[in-house]
Amino acid sequence: MSSVPAKLLQTLQQHHQHRLLACLQLLPPAQQMALSATLADVDFDLLQATWLSASQPADDHPSVDRAALAQAPSRVVRQPVSAADHQAWALARSLGEQAISAGTVAVITVAGGQGTRLGFEHPKGLFPIGPVTDRTLFQIFAEQILARRRRHRADLPWCIMTSDATHEETVAFFQQHQYFGLTPDSLHFFRQGSLPAMDAATGQLLLAAPGQLALSPDGHGGLVTALARAGLLELLQARGVQHLYYHQVDNPTAIVADPALLGFHIQQQSQATTCVVCKTSPTERMGVLVDLQGRTEIIEYSELTAEQAAGQDQNGQWIFWAGNTAIHVFDRQFLASFCEAGRQLPLHIARKQVPSVDETGQPLPTATDGQPNAIKLERFIFDALPAATNTLIVEGHREREFNPVKNKSGSDSADTCRAALSRIAAEWLQATGLPVDPQTVYELSPLVALDVNELVNHHQQGTLPTITRTTAGCVIATAP
Ligand code: UD1
Repeated sequence: MSSVPAKLLQTLQQHHQHRLLACLQLLPPAQQMALSATLADVDFDLLQATWLSASQPADDHPSVDRAALAQAPSRVVRQPVSAADHQAWALARSLGEQAISAGTVAVITVAGGQGTRLGFEHPKGLFPIGPVTDRTLFQIFAEQILARRRRHRADLPWCIMTSDATHEETVAFFQQHQYFGLTPDSLHFFRQGSLPAMDAATGQLLLAAPGQLALSPDGHGGLVTALARAGLLELLQARGVQHLYYHQVDNPTAIVADPALLGFHIQQQSQATTCVVCKTSPTERMGVLVDLQGRTEIIEYSELTAEQAAGQDQNGQWIFWAGNTAIHVFDRQFLASFCEAGRQLPLHIARKQVPSVDETGQPLPTATDGQPNAIKLERFIFDALPAATNTLIVEGHREREFNPVKNKSGSDSADTCRAALSRIAAEWLQATGLPVDPQTVYELSPLVALDVNELVNHHQQGTLPTITRTTAGCVIATAP
């Protein structure tokens, strides 16, 4: 064990990590060193405490029933109805546009996940979603960003968070497509971290192979440390960026760098702003924004029983109506303060089946009925919300902005998402006065229009590109 620092050996002994100790003993010196380096970054105290609390019977540590204490959010900018509302939204939009032009906005896309739930074994951003052309999710976002940069003559840096599983393929994909016309120096790929899986019965770290921990991505809450580790918090600060528009890779209808959302965030000096939409049913799998003891928090759908999810206030309104679209605007300094203070977002536990080996490389048995053998850990970015002194919730337009692709079939599937993209394109075309056929599938590149007004202007000024008809439908696009 000459290559293993004595302090590490002591830590492993203290934390009863017998399998790791046995594994280190059997490894050749070079691999001993490599595994020791990985283990040096592991916070064994935190892992042990997490495992201990996860292993105790629920009755021994009754958790706070957040749902029982929660109230519907009190401070929400609702969708505009009255003339005054429309005026307020127009003002916010104009503020947001000024911020983009002034170069104080950057975009963060979290794209650490794979399309496994969709039966697609690649980074989810590579999923073909264009209803006519099969444009990928990444291409749709790239085109939105390029169009915004052109419209506001702005830099608008784009930071894409990948994971070990998605990094290389994502970067290669962008290279292969010449970054979709974006300048590579304002496109930043950065990798999120990972966390070790633990044996649910013993708390020992699991091995994927001798000398190799079984690791999984640390959740989108890994964003803060990943940004800092990549030097991006400093770089964005040096470029004068103050506002970070954050969204998930799975929703191509998110309005990237949404000027209205940014504008409200700036106007109300919010540190963390969230775009919500009204849930379609209490059981819809969306986290919900609530007020909890004077703070804004998100309660995940998995935390609510069906009865709780359907809870109503004294006026008969759903308490848990404000579905989290996972679109946020964060103040850069607010996120940076987490790193400066050495604070970490809390760990969440998921019980999963994880294949693993013993110290000699022999596979360890797992239950044939799929029973979990392991505890996986991750952090959620929205756990940063309660730390903010000033938060804001803005209601988005559900049909326009929230059409994620999550499931292989049924709701939130590729079919529903493609139908939404086609519907939006058809609605905008109809607004120009051009004939729209209800049976035809439509696709509109963000490079042609970012909103309905831009399309109408093109039509009025005779600058609308030719509509290309293919067997799959009609496309309106321009080259990047
Ligand atoms: C998520 C939200 C939920 C919200 C819904 C809206 C969580 C825990 N819940 O649910 O509140 O209502 O979206 O669509 O997030 N990702 C990473 N790295 C990771 C894990 C995830 O980059 O380590 C990215 C994925 O690429 C994906 C996104 O985060 O884009 C969402 O993750 P997912 O696990 O699919 O969350 P949902 O259950 O859909």
